[in-house]
Amino acid sequence: MKIVLASRNAHKIKELHAFLRPVDPDIEILSLDDIGFVGDIEENGTTFEENALIKAQTVADMGYIGIADDSGLSVDALDGAPGVYSARYAGEHGDDHKNNMLLLENIADVPDEKRTAEFVSVIACSFPGGEHAPIVCRGACPGTILHAYRGNGGFGYDPLFYYAPYDKTYAEMTPEEKNSISHRANAMKKFIEAFRDVIHA
Ligand code: IMP
Repeated sequence: MKIVLASRNAHKIKELHAFLRPVDPDIEILSLDDIGFVGDIEENGTTFEENALIKAQTVADMGYIGIADDSGLSVDALDGAPGVYSARYAGEHGDDHKNNMLLLENIADVPDEKRTAEFVSVIACSFPGGEHAPIVCRGACPGTILHAYRGNGGFGYDPLFYYAPYDKTYAEMTPEEKNSISHRANAMKKFIEAFRDVIHA
């Protein structure tokens, strides 16, 4: 079975392959480049679900089973911001440090007990010709936003995101620790079960 991940990120493709191999040992994961998709898919949704579905459906419209994820940080004191704008919060796509500094600035006056947040990951899968209804799975991880960086690992908002049960930020965790509780891992666990049910139905 061929599946297209709506991404060009080699790490994400490898990761998805590892997760889906137990469901179907012959599974092949292709990227947007592999199917000749040029340019970027415009993520103009206002929720993680919408954006993940836009990406997965774009691939399904080309005749392939499409899988896509969308993720970000949702801070309660900011009514859910940066949310779907997490990657471009400070304007420049992917400037993690600027994004983190803007986040700290915007919650500078928020007391510790109100600095609650959650990381969210949504994985969507669309099928060509509407063969099956789309699958949409959401995973989350609760935490709080610190006042300064802690830890050197990870990426994005990891050094500001404190997870109390481990007494660590995401940036202080080993990859195994993060994978055991992360928003992405939680979404992926739900997705694997839903995907297994659909393809083995
Ligand atoms: P994407 O949907 O995977 O491209 O992620 C969107 C943005 O959300 C990233 O650029 C990060 O700013 C943030 N983000 C998502 N997942 C994580 C994470 O595990 N750690 C830190 N930041 C994340």
